[in-house]
Amino acid sequence: MDHPRFVHPDAIGQPSTRIDGPAKVSGAARYTADFMLPGMLYAVPVCATIAHGRITGLDAEAARAMPGVHAVLHRGNRPSLYRAASGSIDEARPPLDDDTIRYYGQYVAVVAADTLEQAQAAARAVRVSYEAQAPDVSPPADEDTPNIESQRGDAATAYAQAPVQVDEVYTTPVETHNSMELHACVAEYDGQSYTLYETSQGVVNHRDVMAQMLGVGKESVRVISHYLGSGFGGKLWPWPHSLLAAVAARQLGRPVKLVISRAMTFHSAGHRPHTRQRMRLGATRDGKLVSLRHHYLSQASQLDKYRERCGEATPRMYSTPNLQVGWGLARRHVGAPTSMRGPGAVPGMYALESAMDELAVALQMDPVELRLRNEPEHDEGNGLPFSSRHLRECLRQGAERFGWQRRQPGLGAMRQGDTVLGWGVASCSWLALRMPTDARVTLYADGSARLDCATQDIGTGTYTVLAQLVSAETGIALDRIQVGLGDTQLPPGPVSGGSAATASVVPAALQATREAARAARRLAAQPGGPYAGKPDQELSMHAGRVRLSADRADAGVPLGRVLAAAGVASVSGEGHGDSGGALKQQYSINSYGAHFVEVTWHPATARLRVSRVVTVIDGGRIINPRTGRNQIEGAIVMGVGMAMLEHTHYDSRSGAPVNSNLADYIVATHADAPRLDVSFLDYPDYIWNEAGARGIGEIGLAGIAAAITNAVYHATGVRVRDLPVRIEDLL
Ligand code: MOS
Repeated sequence: MDHPRFVHPDAIGQPSTRIDGPAKVSGAARYTADFMLPGMLYAVPVCATIAHGRITGLDAEAARAMPGVHAVLHRGNRPSLYRAASGSIDEARPPLDDDTIRYYGQYVAVVAADTLEQAQAAARAVRVSYEAQAPDVSPPADEDTPNIESQRGDAATAYAQAPVQVDEVYTTPVETHNSMELHACVAEYDGQSYTLYETSQGVVNHRDVMAQMLGVGKESVRVISHYLGSGFGGKLWPWPHSLLAAVAARQLGRPVKLVISRAMTFHSAGHRPHTRQRMRLGATRDGKLVSLRHHYLSQASQLDKYRERCGEATPRMYSTPNLQVGWGLARRHVGAPTSMRGPGAVPGMYALESAMDELAVALQMDPVELRLRNEPEHDEGNGLPFSSRHLRECLRQGAERFGWQRRQPGLGAMRQGDTVLGWGVASCSWLALRMPTDARVTLYADGSARLDCATQDIGTGTYTVLAQLVSAETGIALDRIQVGLGDTQLPPGPVSGGSAATASVVPAALQATREAARAARRLAAQPGGPYAGKPDQELSMHAGRVRLSADRADAGVPLGRVLAAAGVASVSGEGHGDSGGALKQQYSINSYGAHFVEVTWHPATARLRVSRVVTVIDGGRIINPRTGRNQIEGAIVMGVGMAMLEHTHYDSRSGAPVNSNLADYIVATHADAPRLDVSFLDYPDYIWNEAGARGIGEIGLAGIAAAITNAVYHATGVRVRDLPVRIEDLL
């Protein structure tokens, strides 16, 4: 294929350390809650203590009279807020919009005071009376799945005739995004415009939605999010507390800081909804799938649209002439669910890859072999060729690295003293996404460069990857390249979500860099410049120097001298990338991978550990293998949490999430981390962009829970179909 290649590709594929690392470890990096503005007030929301019903009275008199209190905003006195007609927000209803309570913890008022403690005390003093009804926070159960999202052949008939059948139900619980950094907003209003320091994975969407809901033009809102203590999807779209902070700032004419508590995170800032998935697989005796049905229910809130698209990856994963994916919603009295790392495919592949393992058991076939036998040659879901798919190689290479050929298939057959080893495997996939992106690159007379783009770095390495792209084009060293992100005053960029940021910024960043470099070459070729009289097409940039392309690599004039000769301080260029929509019409573009998991089971003490994971990812070209590997390793550890620990419990009487703190909601930590061996195939996907990069933020979490429960089955003979695995399941 004839694709443009980098002039100086040296920086691509380098395992560079994070350029934002020094700012983070020295404390110079300011996160949202670090911003302290003169005259700033502290806001604390008042949360409903019922999950279903109506407010019948709200008495804020005592709270308002408390020391330091400036306002108590509630439905009775709240300044106007509007609905957003465009953009993304999961809880579309503006806060304090009516007297109906639809989930526990719904904000019913907000207090602003001089200090945090005063605001907290006053929030507790607001008296709210309710007419309560019994909430329903039960898992999805008997709802229908009438909506068909993918279909081919006749799955029901083929299943009925299949000699080998698997028909099982898998459930995943509510999981809550527990970023280390709490959601926060520091809102400032100057009488005309808002400046919102925000924990946002998408400052541009945040600005657009906030502007509409506040009733001003988007030029009147600036959103800043320079650093994030991760987000996992929980910070993709605005949440009601941001609006409360902004209206309080508007009403009071003072900056307002609102940091929600960990408990509020559990009810008012999204979660991955409970899913219930019925998988029906039919196969021939030699392990060829003939029918695959995936019908799922996604728990939903009372008003909102979000559904967990569990069937997203199902149609493309395996070759089968007959398939059906259907879905339904189960509305409950819970807050709005939202995207959580790998939305859809992560719970979906737990079910699919568990069912594949059950099919392998039924066939008495090696589960790797079963997957290899059902590898499709093209995307049978949409009929398109794959841009680049190397799942077979992920499985083979992973098996090799893991030592899979030594696996003894019998249950509990592999022992080490009094410990039983279980070995499990699962495939994974995540779709490639791109979003429209603008970028600007500036080259300075001191030989340094800067790239600006209103995307974000949520801890994943975006600052570094962007600097690498500029470096690749110009040969300017990474430590001379600054990157500006997370500010709506910069050229609009994509959300840090959907594993889309890197693939989105590649075209824009490279084009902007080339435009800036071209401007430098023109200066070099103009009268008085070092290459006066030469056609600027004969010049190129390398190692931060402008030179004649025909000259030796170390020849040329440093960029700074070129600019100085022209008497300019800097040159810049703009670049743009689109959503890749036209490419998606022609190709099925996705990443793939395989996880091999070892668990150790000690029956005498009922101790279960994930001891070892080998993961091979086909994610296109990996621009930075160090931050890239870190993404996958982090996802695997998160997968240990998904498989074994994470579960938001709701009290069926009050509707409250009861384990709404980090002591009771257990996430995997270092002590839970297995030995990790993560590698990349590193096949560039040049169809998707000229760097060949696809995206790796989410795929590592897909499939891992199934690989773990498949290993648990191998060790114990117990098939866990309801996450997380509980020790009592194994006894
Ligand atoms: Mo991801 S759930 O798109 O941040």
